[in-house]
Amino acid sequence: MAREGRGSNIAVIKYWGKRDKKKILPINSSLSVTLSPFDMGTCTSAAYNPSWKGVKLWLNGKEEDANTERIQNCLREIQARSGESDMKEGIRIVSTNNFPTAAGLASSASGYACLVAALGGLFKVEGDLSVIARQGSGSACRSMYGGFVKWEMGKEEDGSDSIAVQVAPETHWPSLHALILVVSDEKKKVSSTGGMEESVRTSKLLAHRAQAVVPDRMVRMEQAIKDKDFAAFGKLTMEDSNQFHATCLDTWPPIFYLNDTSRAIIQFVHAFNEEMGQICAAYTFDAGPNAVLFVEEANLVKLAHRVSAAFPPSKDKTLEDHLADDELRNKVQEV
Ligand code: DP6
Repeated sequence: MAREGRGSNIAVIKYWGKRDKKKILPINSSLSVTLSPFDMGTCTSAAYNPSWKGVKLWLNGKEEDANTERIQNCLREIQARSGESDMKEGIRIVSTNNFPTAAGLASSASGYACLVAALGGLFKVEGDLSVIARQGSGSACRSMYGGFVKWEMGKEEDGSDSIAVQVAPETHWPSLHALILVVSDEKKKVSSTGGMEESVRTSKLLAHRAQAVVPDRMVRMEQAIKDKDFAAFGKLTMEDSNQFHATCLDTWPPIFYLNDTSRAIIQFVHAFNEEMGQICAAYTFDAGPNAVLFVEEANLVKLAHRVSAAFPPSKDKTLEDHLADDELRNKVQEV
């Protein structure tokens, strides 16, 4: 049996769009911060016994279909590298997330990264596994590593150079914190996969972004991280989140992931930075209304107090409901 933990990741330069849907090859490189698996991540155990029938998978205690194309892609790649003859039989996978699944909080990223890490461990597969995780879900390749991780889009048609590379380890910037504001834990209406497909097909802004904007931003973001330059890191993060959501609006028909609360959070962060006289907080939003705020330790308590005053728990749920819901909210309240 093998057991692995992987943290979810928050993209600060977003991946949005594939040039090859089957192999999951992106139209631009991206960069993210991997969270601690103990705070927000997945834990997966995998076991193998050739006498067991089929492949079975339990996600958060519920049996799910293991026969999906993405899981089969991961199994096939692990099989190819492990020399095992038949991976359609004898595998049991148990996976648990410690945060709401499919709420725009990148559950698929830590999920596939952890699945591939556990299978890789079980079948003793050596070398870089991010190429395999990428074929489960694009953003999952970045969760194979901790700290600050870029996904290089690569040039090769077979995807062999479309890999995740660690830019800096988790110990690099210990004063950097991420605050997750759960605006809604409902399942998102337009999946990332479906949404980006529509954007590639219809948005001219997306093509411009991939070719003319992201390459330069990747270089500047990597430098900002290396220098621990929060003002530069924060500005690029917010600009990139805004441009990603602008491409969603530029998609036909348009896709809306942000809601009124998300937009109020954006205005709140700009007002906070204005008051501080410099960029001390930064927001980013993925394919959902939930916000991730980045802040350095020195400003964390001030920002957290302001957030809870400006965005108290919703009226239709009591504070107890929120706290009982899951551990994640516990953490948000604690801060
Ligand atoms: C907005 O990795 O979930 O979170 O490759 O189709 O599984 P698939 O998409 P996915 O897309 C993530 C999109 C994003 C931005 C990001 O994480 O870079």
